[in-house]
Amino acid sequence: MKILQILETNRIEFSPSELRKKEHGALICYPGTDLKTFDARVDQLHEIGVRKLIFDGSSKVGRYGIIGRGCVSTVVKARLKSTDEIVALKIRRVDANRVNMSRDYEHQKFANSFGVGPRALSATDDLFAMEYVDSVRLGKWLEKLKTRSSKKYTSGLIRNALEQCYLLDVNGLDHGELSNPTKHLLIRNVVHPETVIIDYESASRERKVANLTAVSQFFFLGGWQSEKIRKILGLAKFSKKKLIEILGEYKRGPCESHFQKILTLLRV
Ligand SMILES: Nc1ncnc2c1ncn2[C@@H]1O[C@H](COP(=O)(O)OP(=O)(O)OP(=O)(O)O)[C@@H](O)[C@H]1O
Ligand SMILES: [Mg+2]
Repeated sequence: MKILQILETNRIEFSPSELRKKEHGALICYPGTDLKTFDARVDQLHEIGVRKLIFDGSSKVGRYGIIGRGCVSTVVKARLKSTDEIVALKIRRVDANRVNMSRDYEHQKFANSFGVGPRALSATDDLFAMEYVDSVRLGKWLEKLKTRSSKKYTSGLIRNALEQCYLLDVNGLDHGELSNPTKHLLIRNVVHPETVIIDYESASRERKVANLTAVSQFFFLGGWQSEKIRKILGLAKFSKKKLIEILGEYKRGPCESHFQKILTLLRV
């Protein structure tokens, strides 16, 4: 009996029908003070074919682990009925300033059409299932970055991030939250540098695009991280004025030749 109890308290995988309002309410109706939508959310878990929710991750809601938490949502690992791979499930917070997940989903689907962002799988009003990216956030990576860190890896990573931004730009999708990309740029846990831009809830296809300019400014012009990055890349004689000038040209109409000029100037 005791062993069974211990197993039960350490359990991290639950099917939607096993979720209990009292025990798991705050996980699917974060922050947990209003559980009116609990049953409707369990229905939505069934609707998008969630087999299991996996409460495993470094952030915590009560004693359960989750993979992320923001102003709009909590993000948990899950398994769907349709596939064996683990997915990331974004669950709208009850106190979010968004009425549903559709904008996030539609914009991410559009980004996927030219190879950017985690694969969007399905969404309901309160849930959005997408490819799970085994990764660290850019912010965490930058904290650990040393001036003696690998030049090859750092330049590859920045080039990859700028390429993703360029793709967003030429396809006319402005992300809207990349001036500080520490939370929205993930770095995959793989040998070669690979970045993934997440969270398209503030994206727009109407706004003038400013993805590449925002991320270049972050990496090379602003704050503590830019000095460190310039040192690693050996940009001793780097001219801020020159970069601002080329970014200005690029901003007037993103095109391949200006993009290449930027990469050359930054030596990535
Ligand atoms: N597809 C994914 N794979 C792995 N981790 C993810 C994924 N999507 C989100 N995360 C994690 O969850 C966190 C929150 O996700 P996201 O930024 O989409 O939520 P949000 O509620 O819009 O947050 P914010 O208020 O910061 O904009 C991310 O910073 C990241 O750590
Ligand atoms: Mg967000």
